[in-house]
Amino acid sequence: MNSKPRLYDEFASWWPVLSAPEDYAEEAEIIRRVLTESTLNKIETVLELGSGGGNNASHLKAHFKMTLVDISPGMLKVSQKLNPECEHIQGDMRTVRLNRLFDAVLIHDAISYMTNLADLKQAIETAYVHCKPGGAALFAPDHTKENFRPSTSHGGHDVEGRSLRYLEWAHDPNPNDDNCIIDFAYLLRNQNNQVWAEYDRHITGLFYKEDWLRIIANTGFFPKTIPFEHSEIEPGSCDFFIGKKP
Ligand SMILES: C[S@@+](CC[C@H](N)C(=O)[O-])C[C@H]1O[C@@H](n2cnc3c(N)ncnc32)[C@H](O)[C@@H]1O
Repeated sequence: MNSKPRLYDEFASWWPVLSAPEDYAEEAEIIRRVLTESTLNKIETVLELGSGGGNNASHLKAHFKMTLVDISPGMLKVSQKLNPECEHIQGDMRTVRLNRLFDAVLIHDAISYMTNLADLKQAIETAYVHCKPGGAALFAPDHTKENFRPSTSHGGHDVEGRSLRYLEWAHDPNPNDDNCIIDFAYLLRNQNNQVWAEYDRHITGLFYKEDWLRIIANTGFFPKTIPFEHSEIEPGSCDFFIGKKP
């Protein structure tokens, strides 16, 4: 990881309080449909790189046998609790090699942590080497250069006596580089009703669509863009990138 968000390290155990599996239900169903429509093969096995707390996987595992890879031991622990039936492996999406092939590969929002084109290329190569011929890979960055807009949002949950509320602020102080910044303020409340505030900066990648499509094609995939149509997302503000392996 180039930047090390505190959320995936010292605050990993708070992930389920920040983000609940049900928040991912609609998106997971869209991912299931897009992956299924992107290959003629029947999808039985899916590799998810950067699987985090396993919220997507908690829905996708009803349809596919999921293998979940993340760089953070704390996030893997959270996902193992939620998805004990899934295989979990610690690894970096840029370099991990499992020496097996999957019907499909998914890199959801975790692909946003590729903060330069060289890292993005490595992650897409990892997807390629783990994808069966005829299979498909789906990449779901939060933003591209074209659709990024500064934004603020908030959320949080109450889980087993702990509560968290966050303010998320996405901004792009230097439009000439390949990054945007997501600053988070967290208010955390423990079982003893103590509340405290923490700050966390996430530096994420911001690339042109043509860079995405060129890298996906140069890796060996047939590239495609699909608009991400979700009830909570403004139409036209987000895209999925698909790589179909010949
Ligand atoms: C927003 S979370 C993913 C949440 C996930 N979509 C879910 O359904 O729960 C982003 C994850 O990317 C992981 N990550 C960041 N850089 C990574 C890398 N180079 N290789 C693997 N995982 C990485 C972080 O550890 C974190 O768990």
